This record gives sequence, C-alpha cells and structure tokens, in this order.
Amino acid sequence: MSNATVIVVTSGKGGVGKTTSSAAIASALAKEGYQVCAIDFDVGLRNLDLIMGAERRVVFDLVNVVRGEASIKQALVRDKKLENLYLLPASQTRDKDALTEEGVASVINELRMYFDWIVCDSPAGIERGATLAMRHADEAIIVSNPEVSSVRDCDRIIGLLDAKTIVAEEGKRMPKHLLITRYDIERAKTGDMLDVNDVVDILSVPLIGVIPESRDVLKASNVGLPVTLSDENSPASKAYTEATQRLLGSDVPVTIPSEKKGFLGKLFKGRAA
Ligand SMILES: Nc1ncnc2c1ncn2[C@@H]1O[C@H](COP(=O)(O)OP(=O)(O)OP(=O)(O)O)[C@@H](O)[C@H]1O
Ligand SMILES: [Mg+2]
Repeated sequence: MSNATVIVVTSGKGGVGKTTSSAAIASALAKEGYQVCAIDFDVGLRNLDLIMGAERRVVFDLVNVVRGEASIKQALVRDKKLENLYLLPASQTRDKDALTEEGVASVINELRMYFDWIVCDSPAGIERGATLAMRHADEAIIVSNPEVSSVRDCDRIIGLLDAKTIVAEEGKRMPKHLLITRYDIERAKTGDMLDVNDVVDILSVPLIGVIPESRDVLKASNVGLPVTLSDENSPASKAYTEATQRLLGSDVPVTIPSEKKGFLGKLFKGRAA
C-alpha cells in the first residue's frame, strides 16, 4: 500500500470556493513534485474539469468507473501542464444515486496505490454526495467564507466528519484545516464580514489559509487554469501556495490580506495550523 493522503475539500454551503480551492491546492501539490489526483464528486455538475481546463479531454468519469464501464486508468485525465496531476471527472448524469459506497471505496483504494495525494472536491450540502466525498478522507479542508451562514454550515460538516467517516468509525479524530476564502478587504473594513479570528474561534479548527477575494480567480477559470498555475504572483495564488505549504507541514504564519501593506500585511498570530 502506498502512503497516499486523501483530503476532502468540503463546506456544507454552496458556492464558497471548494472547487476553486481543490484545483488550486491539487496543482500546488503537483508543482511540488507529488503524484496528485483530484476527484470531482459533484455528480451532475462537473465543475472541476472546467476549472482545470480539461473538459474536452473527458471521456469516462467517476460513475463509469464505479459501474465498471471503464477502468480508472481509462477515466483519469492528465493535466495539460503538469504530467503528475490527474483528474477523475464527475459524471453529468442526473442520477444522484449513481455513486455507491462500495464503488467509491474501491476507486479510492485503487487510487491510493498510484498517488501521493488524492483531493476530493465535495458537492455542496450535507447529503449523500458530501458524505461519500468525505468518507475515505484522512484529512479535511473546511472551506468557509467569512459569513455567518457559511460558518454555520461548516459546523454541520465538522459534525459529519467526526461521525460518518472511516477515520471517525475507527475512533480517531479527523485532522481538519480551516481555509477562509473570498476574504474581501473592503467588506472587512466596513465590518460587513466576520473577522478571521471570529471564524477561527467559532469553528475551533486550525487556520490553514486566508484567500482574498480576487478577480484573478475568475480570470484563471476563464482560461481553464487553476489560479496557482495561471498567475503565480497573484495574491490568491500566493495564498493558496502558502496554504499548501502548511498542508505539507510547514509552520509559516498565516498572512491575512490587508489593504495597507498589500497582501503581505499583518501576520495572523492566533491559532494558526
Ligand atoms: N477568492 C475568490 N475570489 C473571487 N471569486 C472567487 C474566489 N473563490 C471562488 N470564487 C468564485 O466563486 C464562485 C464559486 O466558486 P466555486 O465553484 O469554487 O465554489 P464551490 O464551493 O465549489 O461551489 P459549489 O458548492 O457549487 O460546488 C465561482 O464563480 C468562483 O470563480
Ligand atoms: Mg464545486
């Protein structure tokens, strides 16, 4: 068996930046030289292939593999830039029950043999799709926007991570990392958003990064590149790269985007990961 680490990128609430983060972090890990596979669990929507610019190369998908219609190797799409980065796309089927628990288990177990990191992009919600995406995770990245509704949904996801995963069933605690995304400097100034410290306090999960709201994210997805591959100097890209360093065990302090000194503003001195 290999030493693959399975990471789920999850949030509860929709549209907070899970897919953007999955693509950015998977690419940043691949840039470090690891063998990386990103899996799109969002059956019916298929977003990860668009963000990774792989949509025209998709032939088979996760559901085909689960149903035995294609092998994993047939379904994996290799990234156009990084040869050690692969995508296992979601299906566009309308059948939300197309994924079975046994099917997902065998897919993950096989992928563990080929890859160092497996990044599972979870669908929104707390239903079956989200629980299947987290089921085999060794670690979780919890994505939250600095807003009450988003934080509340993260709390429900934390409950599920500690109850419905294999790690939880083995009596262990799921290691969790909090990633705050779409942090808007203007709205932070007006008090329109929750403060980073507040989010960390409410969820009580170590902070792995704060990603600024940035037009670079949209620009990157328009050209089909994860932001960490499209513009390495953009603030969002740097923040994702730093978060990935922390995931790999580095203890650099988290920087919070601030207007005054630009992105490398004040250092976060709270409960950093
Ligand atoms: N840091 C950011 N700055 C600006 N826009 C962002 C940022 N992160 C994500 N977005 C935008 O927010 C939207 C939702 O992002 P994304 O699809 O990654 O969220 P999601 O959590 O995967 O959504 P879903 O729950 O539907 O799967 C997209 O249009 C994306 O471009
Ligand atoms: Mg998504």
